[in-house]
Amino acid sequence: MSYLPKPHGGKLIQAFNPDYDLSNAEKEIEIDSIALSDLELIAVGVFSPLTGFLGKEDYESVVTSMRLADGTIWSIPVTLPVSHEVAAKLTVGEEIKLKFNNIVYGVVKVSEWYEPDLTKEALEVYKTDELAHPGVRRLFERGSVYVAGEIVLVKKPEKGVFDDVWFEPKETREIFEAKGWKTVVGFQTRNPIHRAHEYIQKAALETVDGLFVNPLVGQTKSDDIPAEVRLKSYRVLLENYYPKERVQLGVHPAAMRYAGPREAIFHAIARKNYGCTHFIVGRDHAGVGNYYGTYDAQLIFSEFSEEELGIKPLFFEHSFYCIKCEGMASDKTCPHGKEDRVILSGTKVREMLRSGVLPPSTFSRKEVVEVLIEGLGEKTTV
Ligand code: ADX
Repeated sequence: MSYLPKPHGGKLIQAFNPDYDLSNAEKEIEIDSIALSDLELIAVGVFSPLTGFLGKEDYESVVTSMRLADGTIWSIPVTLPVSHEVAAKLTVGEEIKLKFNNIVYGVVKVSEWYEPDLTKEALEVYKTDELAHPGVRRLFERGSVYVAGEIVLVKKPEKGVFDDVWFEPKETREIFEAKGWKTVVGFQTRNPIHRAHEYIQKAALETVDGLFVNPLVGQTKSDDIPAEVRLKSYRVLLENYYPKERVQLGVHPAAMRYAGPREAIFHAIARKNYGCTHFIVGRDHAGVGNYYGTYDAQLIFSEFSEEELGIKPLFFEHSFYCIKCEGMASDKTCPHGKEDRVILSGTKVREMLRSGVLPPSTFSRKEVVEVLIEGLGEKTTV
């Protein structure tokens, strides 16, 4: 008997078929890297219960009520945008090849296409229609007609340096079971793991059997630290500071949406599909700039029952190193003032790293900083 949660919607979707007969698919669409990662994530079950790109009814329901048309919780539309010119050539019922950089990765069986109200999608999902928001800008850039339909993945994208840490939900579930973990906490990040991340991960791990460090390595905004560099930093951190038998590293190949609260729900559902029973949500999860309140991504979980969501969120306050406490702490546990706390914004840290300045060890482990500076191609000057 498994203690791990059932996949979202009840069944792990499996839509990879390398032998799929492509002879019925005459036309092809060139897709972007986000659609390619969505295609794979649907096919391997990370986005269960989705079996394809959302149709109009599901899309509108997700945008307005964070649920698929059948009521299943789903907070971010997963869509296949194309131009009007491409849409004009489509026929309902036909199969279309999905190509990226001239390689066919899958097919979509076109069930319909529709024009989304992008401003509404932006305002509901991202809570803003400002183009300065990276998720919103991309939304408006990607294409104004959405093609819907079930997909088949016929070729898995190359994994490169991520090969040994690229697991599908069926594999992570096997790994967790083999380790005998009954409770597993998932951790999302698009950043290197700094001391605050480590602190909340380990605090969570004190109460569960295993920790699944699951950094997002799909498309991120250009000033985020590249995933290949981050991967090296995760490896060195785990090697030096984490107990091997209680921690599993595996990448999450999704594109970052920067949708804050809505994306926290989306992230939690994906981790449930990987087999996690718990999910860490700290401060400003999946946020960007000042678009969301510090704890909005925690508050949104109160809109759903834990039973229905099927994964338990673990909330953490803003954490930092306190010089007076001589350790990691948060507002909840530290009585000291701002002047005693080592708090650096992500932007500040990226600036430091890019100019070769070492953030202090109270902020980030020395080994991590070294790897990041080296990876970003800068010389250490301090
Ligand atoms: S995210 O966009 O992937 O959410 P990030 O990598 O910064 O961004 O955060 C990963 C997770 O750690 C999120 O759950 C976030 O809320 C949490 N987190 C990041 N920094 C802190 C901090 N200083 N204190 C508490 N939680 C944090």
